[in-house]
Amino acid sequence: MFSDKTKKYHLADSKEEFLQNFPENNEVTKNFPFGEVLFVRKEDEIYAFINNCPHQGQKMQGCAIVDGRVICPVHKYKFDVKTGRGHGLYLDFYPLEENEDGFFLLRTYFSWFGE
Ligand code: FES
Repeated sequence: MFSDKTKKYHLADSKEEFLQNFPENNEVTKNFPFGEVLFVRKEDEIYAFINNCPHQGQKMQGCAIVDGRVICPVHKYKFDVKTGRGHGLYLDFYPLEENEDGFFLLRTYFSWFGE
């Protein structure tokens, strides 16, 4: 039976510990089995999204976050940080969760087999 599944990826033992890894430019990339994710820190928020722009597949490093939208550094397409929608394209965002077991990235995917 097909369904949506959510997998958790451990990032750090706490959000505080994860925040210590951010350099001056407030961007960090990490590789996962599904692709490279760009983490962008802006004030107290951390945004996590796939590091390939859906427009022409360019890297998103150097992007800006303004008024709730991520702006691609290449052609300036904008993507809503809550829905990922922008210019008829979608940028995959990933929720982050902190609980007693640590700080996690959550990725929801479609499964044909319920696994
Ligand atoms: S590659 Fe991002 S807007 Fe064109």
